[in-house]
Amino acid sequence: TEQLKARLFEIHSVAGRFYHEVLQSDEGTIARSYMEGRKLQPNISRKFGLGYAPERRGALMEHLKEKGYSIQDMLQSGLVIENKEKNGYHDRFRGRLMFPIFDPQGRVVGFGGRIIGKGEPKYLNSPETILFSKSRNLYGLNFARAARKKELILVEGYMDMISLYQAGFHNVVAALGTAFNQEHARALKKFAEDIILLYDSDEAGTNAALRAIPVLTANGFRVRVTQVPDGKDPDDFIKQNGAVEFSKLLVNAVHYISFEIACIQKKYNLNNPEHRVRFATEAADILSKLDNAIERNVYAGEVSRMTGVEEGAIRSEIDKRVQKED
Ligand code: CTP
Ligand code: MN
Ligand code: MN
Ligand code: MN
Ligand code: MN
Repeated sequence: TEQLKARLFEIHSVAGRFYHEVLQSDEGTIARSYMEGRKLQPNISRKFGLGYAPERRGALMEHLKEKGYSIQDMLQSGLVIENKEKNGYHDRFRGRLMFPIFDPQGRVVGFGGRIIGKGEPKYLNSPETILFSKSRNLYGLNFARAARKKELILVEGYMDMISLYQAGFHNVVAALGTAFNQEHARALKKFAEDIILLYDSDEAGTNAALRAIPVLTANGFRVRVTQVPDGKDPDDFIKQNGAVEFSKLLVNAVHYISFEIACIQKKYNLNNPEHRVRFATEAADILSKLDNAIERNVYAGEVSRMTGVEEGAIRSEIDKRVQKED
């Protein structure tokens, strides 16, 4: 299987070059104008190896055949698939803007393909293969590690990662829309100590951020959270507002506990006494999970200011819960 693995790396590298060349050709015109619309610069397209998968059903397959690769290897790569009728094979990716996914060493291990314009699915990704797993690989880690910053910005999508990079923020990685998990955390741990979580500011993004927090903290990261305004994502924001405004969002990132408290607060109307009780109680639950007594105290003060409940009362509720856990 080491030999198979080596051939699959080769196939991915050949495919990456193929898609990239198609992008420069007449066939790639539609993708180039799509990229222009999204303000992707040609130098960035080169750096990230962006490409275009042609509409022709067997374009990549034929190219790989010419290069001497077997159908079996092509199928193993996930880039070629069997017909529905099971009487032949064709390319997985067709008519899509292609994002090569690199491993931390910079080898292509898979692809994400974005539909040009509207349609479903918006992104098609490589399947799980010997080289690629969505729950292990983080997009952009090979570039982010080269930035040599102990702090990494974690975003949702391909375009968020690339846009931030293009604007000069090189310490960015994307979890590609999957739930951030233990394996992701372990992969990041080799390169970073601090994480700024920057997921989309829609409901899905907020919930995904809330779920990523315990995974990150359990792996010893210091975690801060920030979001762009108005349900947008970082790519939208930085293109509309520029790098200076974006820097301010990073500076204003808050400790994850403040983010969690702000999130639960949205469920309650703090003018209503009953709601104040329920909010302060739920906040005490969250704060009791902090190991650091000083942190518990600081954020108890925050909850006290938000609700008008005396800090001592909040602290004693927290202490009750801490003792139960011990
Ligand atoms: N994603 C996916 N398949 C989909 C939708 C999303 O794999 N059908 C992943 C992609 O990695 C995508 C990320 O989830 O980049 C975030 O999803 P979303 O916010 O919906 O997409 P954007 O990255 O904002 O896509 P774009 O800006 O190109 O519209
Ligand atoms: Mn060829
Ligand atoms: Mn999203
Ligand atoms: Mn987007
Ligand atoms: Mn998005």
